Amino acid sequence: MKVWEKSVFRDAYETELAYIETVLRGSLDQFVGVYPHVSENNWYPAEKNVLWTASFFVGMCFLAYEHSGDNVFLKYEKEHLRSFEDRLINRNHISHDLGFLYTLSCVADYKVTGNPEGDRIARKAAQMLTERYNEKGEYIQAWGDMRIKYPNVKIIIDTMLNLPLLYWTGDPEKAAMAEKHAMTASHTLVRPDYSTYHTYLMDPDTGKAVCGKTHQGHRDESIWARGQGWAVYGYALSYRYTGNHAFLSIAEKAAEVFIKNLPENLIPYWDFDFTDQNPDIRDTSAASIFVCGLLELCGHVPEEKAEEYLELAEKIMKSLREQYSTRGLTRSNGILTEGMYHRHDGEEECTIWGDYFYMEALIRLTRDWKPYW
Ligand code: GLY
Repeated sequence: MKVWEKSVFRDAYETELAYIETVLRGSLDQFVGVYPHVSENNWYPAEKNVLWTASFFVGMCFLAYEHSGDNVFLKYEKEHLRSFEDRLINRNHISHDLGFLYTLSCVADYKVTGNPEGDRIARKAAQMLTERYNEKGEYIQAWGDMRIKYPNVKIIIDTMLNLPLLYWTGDPEKAAMAEKHAMTASHTLVRPDYSTYHTYLMDPDTGKAVCGKTHQGHRDESIWARGQGWAVYGYALSYRYTGNHAFLSIAEKAAEVFIKNLPENLIPYWDFDFTDQNPDIRDTSAASIFVCGLLELCGHVPEEKAEEYLELAEKIMKSLREQYSTRGLTRSNGILTEGMYHRHDGEEECTIWGDYFYMEALIRLTRDWKPYW
C-alpha cells in the first residue's frame, strides 16, 4: 500500500510539518558541528559530535528541504559533512552507531542532493562498521574498543537501524554481514514470543551467545519499549533490502507485541512492565519509531493488514500531536515532549531521535518518499 495516498489527516500533517520547519529554521545556526541530543526543560543544548544522536538534526534538515524546497535547510551542508568526516578521521566515539550517524547525515545528503562527498564519507563509515563484525558469531559488536578483549561483548537490538548503511553500499560482502547479524539477532535478541532483549552477551572468541541482559530497560526479562520499536522498524528495513521473509515475519510479530502493550492513549510507557494500572514515565520516541516501522510495513504486507497498520499509525500520530507537542510551551527548540533516554538520565524530555522519527512519519504520510535508511 502507498500510505501517502490513503492517509486521512493530511491537513493536520502539513500543519505539523510547517511547525517543525519553523522550529528548525530557528535552530539552524545553533547546531553546526554541535548537535541536539536530549533536552533540558524542553530546550536542547548543543553537544559535541561524539554522541550516537548527532545525525538526527541533519536528517531533519534534509526532510525539511525535501518537503519545503527551501535552500535554507542546506545552509550548513558542507559544515555538517566536515564534522562527520572529522569524527571518522579521529575515530571519535566509534561504535555500531555509525549506521545512525552516517545514514542520516551522509547517505541522506547523497540521496537528496546527489553530493558525491556524502556518498564518499558514508562508504568510509560503512567500511569502519565492518571492523566490528565477528566472523565466528556472525554479529556486529555494539560497543567497546575492538582491540580490548572483554570476557563477553554485547549485541543490541538498536543495531537493526544501523544495518541499512551496510546494505545501502551495494557491496555483497557488507550486505551479507548485515543479513547475518539480523539472523543472529533473530535467535538471541528476539525472544521466542517476539518480544526483545535490549542486549545479548556474546563470547567474542567462540562467537557463542551467552545470555540476554538489559541496559536501558527495567529488567533483563522485561520489554524495553524503544528496543521493541527498533526491532519492528529494523526488521522491516532488513526485509526491504534482502527480501528475506523471515525478517518480515519477525517485524510483524514484534509489532503485535508492541500493539498488545499499548496503553489507552497509545503512547507506550518506557518499558512494557508499566501499564495504565501500574503507570510510569512514557517514551514518545518509542511511539514515533514504531509508527515509522508500521508505515514501512504497509509497503510489504497485504492490503487488509496495511489498512490496519495505517489506521493505528494515524491514531498514534494524533495522540502525539494533540498531547505531546511543544507548541503550547513558552520555550522549546524541540518537537515532541516526554521522550525518555535512560532511567534518571533524560526523562520526560524532548529527544532529537523522537523528533526525527515523528517528522519522518509525517513525510511518509504525506508524500512518496525514498527512505534515507
Ligand atoms: N540507540 C540508543 C537508544 O535507543 O537509546
